[in-house]
Amino acid sequence: MHESVIPPSFMASLLVERRLALFPRTVTVASSALTANSAELTIGGCSLHALAAAYGTPFYCFDAATLDAAAQAYQRALARHYPGEAAVTYAGKAYLSRAIGQWTQRHDLWVDCTGAGEIGIAVAGGVPRARILVHGVNKSDADLDAAVAHAAVIVVDNLAELHRLTPRLQASATPPALWLRVRPGVAVDTHAYRQTGQEDSKFGMSPLEVMAAVRHCLQHGFLLSGLHFHQGSHFHDPAPIGPALEIVLDLVAELAATTGWQPHALSPGGGWGVAYHEDDLPQPDLEDYVRFVAHAVVEGCRQRGLALPALHLEPGRSLIARGGVAVYTVGAAKQTSARRWLFIDGGMADNPRPALYGARYSALPVAGLGREFTDRVWIAGPFCESGDILIENLLMPDVQAQELLAIPVSGAYHLAMQSNYNGARKPAVLWLEQGQAQLIQRRETLADLLARDAELTPPI
Ligand SMILES: Cc1ncc(COP(=O)(O)O)c(C=O)c1O
Repeated sequence: MHESVIPPSFMASLLVERRLALFPRTVTVASSALTANSAELTIGGCSLHALAAAYGTPFYCFDAATLDAAAQAYQRALARHYPGEAAVTYAGKAYLSRAIGQWTQRHDLWVDCTGAGEIGIAVAGGVPRARILVHGVNKSDADLDAAVAHAAVIVVDNLAELHRLTPRLQASATPPALWLRVRPGVAVDTHAYRQTGQEDSKFGMSPLEVMAAVRHCLQHGFLLSGLHFHQGSHFHDPAPIGPALEIVLDLVAELAATTGWQPHALSPGGGWGVAYHEDDLPQPDLEDYVRFVAHAVVEGCRQRGLALPALHLEPGRSLIARGGVAVYTVGAAKQTSARRWLFIDGGMADNPRPALYGARYSALPVAGLGREFTDRVWIAGPFCESGDILIENLLMPDVQAQELLAIPVSGAYHLAMQSNYNGARKPAVLWLEQGQAQLIQRRETLADLLARDAELTPPI
């Protein structure tokens, strides 16, 4: 829970209190003059106002304490509920940069990289080879080469990929281990675009294909050490992991009986959800998720007489989403027949999730938190798409132009999916820890936008 220091007169504002629960754990409401309008948000001991003045908007910030607490919560839950070996792998697709790579090693996390680009970032961030795991549904030659050179584990998505990997593994003096990605035919309850485990999903192999892949690996003497599946992202009910595990453990039992091979490691992927809006609270408890998975693996192995595998969980969003906050400046307000619009200086270019799959967010003004919440507003960005609306129909105070807005739960799948649409320059990213802010990614400049361009020659 955040450490609220809201002056007593503000405690009545239950809505503010509920929204604050979406923010990083270190959020406080500081008030120098103890008046409603001076109350302002601080995170990690830093004033968001002061950060906006120093770095401009939009900016993103990550609260180190919230990220640390999430990593520790996973590790403690695994230690409590799983009697075998276990590891937490951060899914870098949620957001990866050099600093985030460095942070993962504070907690000895593995890092899941999709392709050569993320592998390169992880390596630059100091993630050791022993903790790099590579995913990807259609890995390019460059992806495979980078994975063979830098990864401890490559998760093979399909048989064609295994055949393309074969000569590379044979040529390598230090070939990585392989895991095989199973498509269990069971998805979790989430948006269709985030489901990955269903039978017609583009990801992974059917159990029959996995059997063929195991035989190929054994014939070639490859170090085959694990099975992986992932049923989707942002689910709140772990129940569908049960039937998927049954299918995968049946497959393990059959493989053990027919080939003698058993996976050392088993990964049911990641995907645990978070609360993005006060209506989604309380935050889904990752302890419930870890307990469910751990018990299902232990019981499933016991029933089949299988040795307990090393259990790898692969969370992205539930590690990093709540630690991130996006801060924008309101440019103008506009009243149309049915709506009051607040236009901010970022939108679908830095956060495409609302446009992509209707993701629902909440927000607070950075200052003046003691005001009455009187207005229903639609918060939209500056981009040339009518779908560039970050938040619809949100109760807010009478926010004016030049005020700052903070959108919580912005740490996952925003910066990782951002674009330069309409020439947007990607925002500055800050790391907040013990009252200090560090710039971990500077804001892009026009020079960055032009850096890849070449002139036509001869000039037209
Ligand atoms: C293979 C794999 N592992 C892990 C994740 C992380 O999911 P999340 O960020 O929802 O935890 C994903 C996301 O889709 C994934 O595809």
